[in-house]
Amino acid sequence: MNKTRILKIIIGLSLISMYTVLIITITYYLLVTTTPPMTVFIMEDFLLFFSVAYIISFFIINWDARSQLIRVKLHLYEISALISTVLIFIPLPEFISGNFWVFVIIYSLISGIISFAIKYVTFKIIKVERFSEITTLKPSRNLLEVKVLRVHYPLLGGILKRRIGAVKAVDGVTFDVNIGETVGLVGESGCGKTTIAKAILGLVDITNGKILFQDKPIPPDYSSYLRQKIQMIFQDPDASLNPRKKVVDIIAEPLKNLLAISDKIKLRKRVLALLEQVSLKREHMDRYPHEFSGGQKQRIVIARALACNPELIILDEPTSALDVSVQAQILNLLKDLQGTYGYGFLFITHNLAVVSHVADRVAVMYLGKFVEVGSKEQIFSNPTHPYTRALLASRSEINPYNQDISFVIKGEVPSPIAPPPGCTYNPRCTSEFRTKECELNIPHKIEIEEGHFIWCNNPPSSTPSKV
Ligand SMILES: Nc1ncnc2c1ncn2[C@@H]1O[C@H](COP(=O)(O)OP(=O)(O)O)[C@@H](O)[C@H]1O
Ligand code: SF4
Ligand SMILES: [Mg+2]
Repeated sequence: MNKTRILKIIIGLSLISMYTVLIITITYYLLVTTTPPMTVFIMEDFLLFFSVAYIISFFIINWDARSQLIRVKLHLYEISALISTVLIFIPLPEFISGNFWVFVIIYSLISGIISFAIKYVTFKIIKVERFSEITTLKPSRNLLEVKVLRVHYPLLGGILKRRIGAVKAVDGVTFDVNIGETVGLVGESGCGKTTIAKAILGLVDITNGKILFQDKPIPPDYSSYLRQKIQMIFQDPDASLNPRKKVVDIIAEPLKNLLAISDKIKLRKRVLALLEQVSLKREHMDRYPHEFSGGQKQRIVIARALACNPELIILDEPTSALDVSVQAQILNLLKDLQGTYGYGFLFITHNLAVVSHVADRVAVMYLGKFVEVGSKEQIFSNPTHPYTRALLASRSEINPYNQDISFVIKGEVPSPIAPPPGCTYNPRCTSEFRTKECELNIPHKIEIEEGHFIWCNNPPSSTPSKV
């Protein structure tokens, strides 16, 4: 059982004891007699026990659990703790007899004051306030490290739905993303780009490998801290925005759920600040998504992604669904935001022009594997792997404003269920250095220059030997 659940049970029990004590005591004094029954004293002991447990546990649980608590707006829990304290310190039967209304007034007053104090202290400790400003990240910190990641989707068949094979969607990729950096993941449709994103977000089971965020492995239960720090922006803004909610509520949702900000004025202020970041205005706050253009909707999605001060933003074809004229605006907006706040971007696209516009480093993917990685300059000025060369050759010009970016490489992409043996690119490879060996041997990693690698058995003869 996780800590939050234990805490919630303790809180629930203390609430039950508190209300039982209150109801029995008040009923007795108003209707029956001046002496409360034994039940009250027994319940009072329970109340004391659970309340003390609550107070202690509150201070030892982690940030996630606390923010979960505040999220549900737990004034009552605080009040329960303090009322129990009050009940213990007031000599109940003697004091109440003959002084019932005095008791009620004193009791409520003390409860109110202590409740306020506890709430104030709680919020101070949790520092909810610091999240109300958009923060700038400090450079040169490790953000994301993906090590030899494999994601194989099981392929079920037969009457019993047994596993008969696997779709090797991602097959051993290694890369990292640092603060303030954009890593472009480029490749044809179906090569496994989105699967990498899903693996980072914990949406698919990892077959093998490791994903570290800020040097720590991403846990399977994906804590609320990670939900704040890793954000995803999808291709289709329509699918990401709830058409029944106003913009203000859409953007405020993560603020309420993850940062526990519940004050309406604070929320609106914060939403306005976020809208301004994406060049939208105050009057847009109370409109519904259908009242916006595609580009504006994507701006709303971006604003929502920024709400919880993320560090890593995964963008899966964020401009593919937009008009050509709007694409560049959104790309520029993303670059500006990154320049100001230092987010790390994992930018997934099938569009080389977009990559050339936004990325610092590029990984070219083919059938679940990287075939070439390097800085943007290295990939675009010295493409070395036959696949990268073919991709670039298929584009006569690299123009970020051009929507029509399609790969014109001969042949079909083989199935990831049964990829060709040896180099998976061999059926389509037109390199003059391709040999029979390519059909048998798995390509090895070769360093072309510092930070620039390809995976190939027979690279162009000028390239250095394997690493
Ligand atoms: N849930 C799934 N079950 C089985 N196969 C899947 C699943 N999701 C994706 N795939 C397959 O995995 C491969 C990679 O898909 P995807 O990561 O979406 O590629 P990309 O984003 O590069 O277009 C594709 O062949 C796709 O059909
Ligand atoms: S290993 Fe062979 S088939 Fe594969 S890319 Fe290199 S040359 Fe082409
Ligand atoms: Mg995809």
